[in-house]
This record gives sequence, structure tokens and C-alpha cells, in this order.
Amino acid sequence: MLRTHTCGELRLSDVNTEVTLSGWVQRTRDKGGMIWIDLRDRYGITQLMLDDSKTPAELMAKARELGREFVIQATGTVIERVSKNDKIPTGAIEIKVTALDILNPAKLPPFLIEDETDGGDDIRMKYRYLDLRRGVVRQNLQLRHRVAQQTRTYLDSQNFIEVETPVLIKSTPEGARDFVVPSRMNPGEFYALPQSPQTFKQLLMVSGFDRYYQIVKCFRDEDLRADRQPEFTQIDCEMSFVTQEDVLQMFEGLVRHLFKTVKNIDLAEVPRMTYAEAMQRYGSDKPDVRFGMEFCYLKDQAPALLSREGAVYKLPSGGLGVFDSAEVVVGICAKGCAEYTRKQVDELTEWVKRPQIGAKGLVYVRYNADGTLKSSVDKFYSEEDLKQWAAVFDAEPGDLMLILAGEANKTRKQLNELRLEMGSRLGLRSPDDYKVLWVLDFPLLEYGEEEQRWFAMHHPFTSPKPEDIPLLATDPGAVRANAYDMVINGTEVGGGSVRIFQRPLQMQMFELLGFTPEEAKAQFGFLMEAFEFGAPPHAGIAFGFDRLCSLFGGADSIRDFIAFPKNNSGRDVMIDSPSPIAQAQLDELKIATK
Ligand code: AMO
Repeated sequence: MLRTHTCGELRLSDVNTEVTLSGWVQRTRDKGGMIWIDLRDRYGITQLMLDDSKTPAELMAKARELGREFVIQATGTVIERVSKNDKIPTGAIEIKVTALDILNPAKLPPFLIEDETDGGDDIRMKYRYLDLRRGVVRQNLQLRHRVAQQTRTYLDSQNFIEVETPVLIKSTPEGARDFVVPSRMNPGEFYALPQSPQTFKQLLMVSGFDRYYQIVKCFRDEDLRADRQPEFTQIDCEMSFVTQEDVLQMFEGLVRHLFKTVKNIDLAEVPRMTYAEAMQRYGSDKPDVRFGMEFCYLKDQAPALLSREGAVYKLPSGGLGVFDSAEVVVGICAKGCAEYTRKQVDELTEWVKRPQIGAKGLVYVRYNADGTLKSSVDKFYSEEDLKQWAAVFDAEPGDLMLILAGEANKTRKQLNELRLEMGSRLGLRSPDDYKVLWVLDFPLLEYGEEEQRWFAMHHPFTSPKPEDIPLLATDPGAVRANAYDMVINGTEVGGGSVRIFQRPLQMQMFELLGFTPEEAKAQFGFLMEAFEFGAPPHAGIAFGFDRLCSLFGGADSIRDFIAFPKNNSGRDVMIDSPSPIAQAQLDELKIATK
């Protein structure tokens, strides 16, 4: 090998050892008579030293040629450093160099390859292979590796077997948009890349595999966000002969194992909340429960499911018109924010009125430290009224109540955004504080106003709760599914369901989703047929692997945990893809572009 040790392993106990190291020049410092070189590899940094008075001139000259990122090999003796650096593990020693080889010179990199870099996002993406040399980015991938290893360890110990499923599959109309691949051998026909291996894992259950998993790439042509990439990775799992409870236990076990082995955190029991409760208390199906600030209702058509009695009120009409006509009047109590200036409150009002949030306005009630109450609706409500509101909000002197009104679902969603924003502003969302939650009992279907039809909220293979099956014919929107999501710190990290495994129910589901029997057969005939050859009851889940890694790494964006990610326009700017293809390729595929 071109080295005897790595750049991360030498210590005081190695003093006087003759060593050879290879790596990249992080930086050189030339102080006239002395040259120091920081040599870096994947394992760390070791300082090399050349002393003019004891080193041949030729060797000193060679050291002076070195630039950032040159690849070199250095031989020398380990010595104790005079001034030690306790920030790095090798900081007590340095190498007194006796031989130096430049294995490959390097152009000056376009940005500083240090933890604190001067490179913007675009340039770092273009030169991602250089970005990956930075310790902070490399650590993210090392973390990803550990999460994958520990996932395999746990699932293997539970008798799951890893089975690969195909990447060239069939386009289906449900879910997100497909990426498609033309078939040369079948002109005019296309494969689709899987949005998930959903139907394959169900077929593996029909095959009797009983416990399947796969750490697998999935592809979805959707608009991108910090936690979404067009190709991402799932920990995809399926089990036979289980109930929902079995699945929850098994995968709570996986997450507990990962927290312990990767983060050394003992995860407490994972609380559960129904979808309906999550929407009522937080206005979100993935509530961030690191902090309270739960919704309090001054007016609600169907008050229920709140964690605190008294958090709902019957606002008398005859006050503010917007409140009178609203379906719900709902707010949050921001602790200690009564001191917000008029300007700060105005800025918050503008914040909720941005098109992304879409609120019409924001009502505030200040509970001053002296016990008086002041609101933006003083013209309509007396201080006595406001006192009653404060009781509903469980507010104390010093608090600020922020209130929205309007149509129930919209207003809850808007208040969810405001709650998260206030949580961030008040420092209540620390990335080191992990709160895991199961959200259960999702509705089976949601209605698409534009398309005027029902859509599967999870996917068409999710089973309704048996007791709700009669409602399929009469009130489809009220049918609850045996579906569950795992939420960590307000991020949906996983989702799954108990599946339909009988042909008649699956056909009924397709019919509800607007498939004719012919369409259902054309799209999913293989699955329908499989269900007639002895399909066991089965259920499963898939975790967003990139999201899990970014949560463990304390970052918002999953990009930092993917070796070669795409940018917000879905481009890989390093390899410059997507890109046009040659006319000859198009001809061979019998494709004309518009
Ligand atoms: P679902 O669509 O909920 O379920 O996906 C499972 C998990 O995958 C992650 N995820 C993503 N991560 C990054 N980028 C994306 N574009 C992206 N889309 C989804 C999320 C999500 O919770 N087959 C079903 C699972 C099942 O029923 O077993 C499925 O794919 O963390």
C-alpha cells in the first residue's frame, strides 16, 4: 500500500515510528525556516513538518511547490509537537518528513475545502466530488452508512429478507407523476420507474416470503422541496399474517434500535394520535410535538378531541363580522410574546397573508404583564370578553394570543404554519430534541374538487377499517383506513397500511376511484389475479431513508445526506443531466420530440 497509516490514527504512543502517509494537502504554512503541511484523508488530518536546518534543500523546494489539494505521499518519523492542537485527535504529534512524493498535482479548487467553505450551493453541486471531501459532508454519508447497516442488522434479526424488485416497471395513474423510459424493443411503449415497490412487495407476500425488506431507490416526478428529491431511498417493508398493532410494534422497534445504535438515545414509548385529533389540535397530519402551543378554539362547529378541557369556547355572534361568518375561530398562545411591538405583530400579519399561507388577516390579543388585555379587535369585544378568551387559551400575563378565522380546514392549515413559525422563532424546535409520534386512522379517501372524484389518501391497496366498510357505499369520505404514518419532529418519515388482500374489496376500491373494470384489469390485473391464488393477510410500511438520515444528522435538507443529489429544478449540475439525446437514439426509439 502507498501508506502505513491513515491521517487519523497516529498518537503520542507512536512517537519515533517511521511512517508513510498519503492524502490531500489541506493547507501549507511556510514560515521561512519551517514548513507545515496539513495532510488530509477520509480519516482525519495529520501535520507534516519540514525544518530548513535539518532538511535537504531539494526536499524543502518540493514542499514549497505544493498547492491545496495536491495528492502526496510523505515518509518520516512521528515526533511530539511543541504546540499541541487539542481540537483534532492527531493534534499531539507531527511527522518530521524525510521523503515526499507528489502523486498528482491539483488545480486550485473553486471553493475552500474546509468545514466552513466559501462556496455557494451551485458551485458545490457542480463540483460535488470536491464538496464530498469536506469533513462535514463526509460525516453525513458516514451517518447514512451507519443507519443502513443498523437497519439491516435489526431487520435481519427479525427474519426479514432483502429482495430486489425491478426498476423498469409499468406506469400507473395513481400517486405522483411517473418518470418513464422508452422501450427500443417495443416501439411506442414505455416503462415507468417505480414510485415505490408497492405491488411487488405485496406479490412477494402472495409468494409466501412473509417478511420482506429492501433499501430501495424510488422515483417521483414531483415538485421539489427541502425534504423531497426526484429519486430518493426507502426502507421498504412488508409482513404477512399481522395486524396493524404488530406492524407498529415491529417498526417502533426498528426506530428504537436506530436511535440507540446511531444516536445513543433511549427512545421513550412512541405516543399515538389519530389523524382527526392531529388535525384538530395542530392543523397538520404531521404535527411537530416538540412543543405545545396547541390550538384553542373560540368557535368550532364540532368541538372535540382537544387535549385540554376548556380549550374551546362558544363565541357569541354580533362581534367582528369575520368571526361571525367563520366556520372556525382558532388561535395559539405564544408564551411571553406580549412584548411584541406593533411592528412585530404587523410583520407576523404580513407573514400569514403571504400567498404561500393565504390567511386574510391575523387577530391578536396581548395579555399585558400588568394584567390588562389589549387586542386588535377592541372595537368589537370588551376586556371582559378578552378575559374569557384568555381562559380558553390558558394565557397568562405576558402572553400573546394569535387568532385566525375562516373555513375550517384552510384556517387550521394556516394556523399550523403560524404555529411552526412561532415555534422556530421562540427556539422550541431544537434539532437535538427528538419527538417521535404515530399518526393513525387516516381517512381512506379524499375528494379531488377539480377532478370531481375520490382519490386514495395513501394508495389504492390500503384497507378500510372493517367496521367502516358499509360506509364505502354511503359516505366514502367518512371511511377510515388502517393506515399509519410515523412522524419525527414534524416530518413524515414513514407511512404504511394494512392491505386489501381480497379481490372483491380491491375491485370495489378501484371502482370508487373511478376505474372501469377494464381499466382496473389493464392496470392491476396481475395483482387481482394473484389475490385469487391464496393471498395472505398482509401489511407494511416504508420509511423515507434520506429523511431519517437528515433528522439523525440534525439537518433540514435531505440533499446533504445524498452523495449526488439533484438541485431544485431536478438537475444534476455535475453531470449536466437531463440533457438532449442524439437524433440517432431518438430514431432508434421511434420518438419524435415536439
Ligand atoms: P409513501 O408515499 O408515504 O408510501 O412514502 C414513504 C416515505 O417515503 C418518503 N418520501 C420521500 N422522501 C424523499 N423524497 C420524496 N420525493 C419522497 N416521497 C416520499 C417519506 C414517506 O413517508 N408504498 C408506500 C408505503 C407502504 O404503504 O408500505 C409508500 O411509498 O418519508
